Amino acid sequence: MKKMILDLDTGVDDALAISYALGSPEVELIGITGTYGNVLMEQGVRNALAITELLGHPEVKVYRGLDHSSTTDSFQVLEISSFIHGQNGIGEVVIADSTRDAEDTPAVDFIIDAAKTYGKDLVYVPTGPLTNLDAAIARAPEIVDEIGRVVLMGGALTVPGNVNAWTEANISQDPDAANRVFCSGIPATMVGLDVTLQTLLTYKETQRWRDLGTPAGAFLADMTDFYIKAYETTAPHLGGCGLHDPLAVGVAVDPTLVTTLPINMKVDVEGPTRGRTIGDETRLNDPVKTMDAAVGVDVPRFLDEFMTRISTLAAN
Ligand code: BDR
Ligand code: CA
Repeated sequence: MKKMILDLDTGVDDALAISYALGSPEVELIGITGTYGNVLMEQGVRNALAITELLGHPEVKVYRGLDHSSTTDSFQVLEISSFIHGQNGIGEVVIADSTRDAEDTPAVDFIIDAAKTYGKDLVYVPTGPLTNLDAAIARAPEIVDEIGRVVLMGGALTVPGNVNAWTEANISQDPDAANRVFCSGIPATMVGLDVTLQTLLTYKETQRWRDLGTPAGAFLADMTDFYIKAYETTAPHLGGCGLHDPLAVGVAVDPTLVTTLPINMKVDVEGPTRGRTIGDETRLNDPVKTMDAAVGVDVPRFLDEFMTRISTLAAN
């Protein structure tokens, strides 16, 4: 069975990504590594511990990752992140803290160990900044050839960013780390805003979770309604909230959900376009493409998988 690591800045869509992974019998979630972004790393770890417990999977181990970017000394949550995900990252919904703590092993050590143990069976799904993976590659460059695949939520090939015209939120947090990962040659699929903004959820679907009458269903519905409400202010034209992070998990489970373009990419690290994901002109004609960029998604099939898997999980 495929082994999966989720690397999360556990906000609302990261929490939905956990739910999708736990609702997918094709993969074993062997660990969650914490990063910063929607919330501080510590809060994200706390959320991941509490959510896995609420969803009936207290066996999933959670690891503390790096808590700021590779070029700064500290990290502060942006006001817009709190507006979209809530101060606590899960739409201000209060759930019981887990009685468990995160593992003593740091996330970077766990990632390296997992790459060595599971090799090509391992899929690593980062849905926040790429700081942890960058640090793991710096420490153990051989994992680039060992790991099965990275399926990351971040960037965009064609559409404007969501931080500014150039930049998507996850990549913008640590463009230097993202650029090193993109140029490392690690096999990776970029699931960017081009496709995630086509996969939208509305109050109609969250009501189905509420109707399950379970604590998990109520939590998922209340948390996601907060996120949909924020989208009504920030992107009213969409008519729902973007399922960014769950789509990356969906693609990691079943790559046929998206169509992809093989293209070696880089991230701009200098000048006004810092944080932009773009084709790497020095490797554009390389016969070997180590990256794929998602360019299209089967929206009805993904939404159906998303609702079925998460509803089945939350029904118990
Ligand atoms: C990404 O940024 C975060 O706010 C979301 O969780 C998602 O990973 C979307 O740009
Ligand atoms: Ca995220």
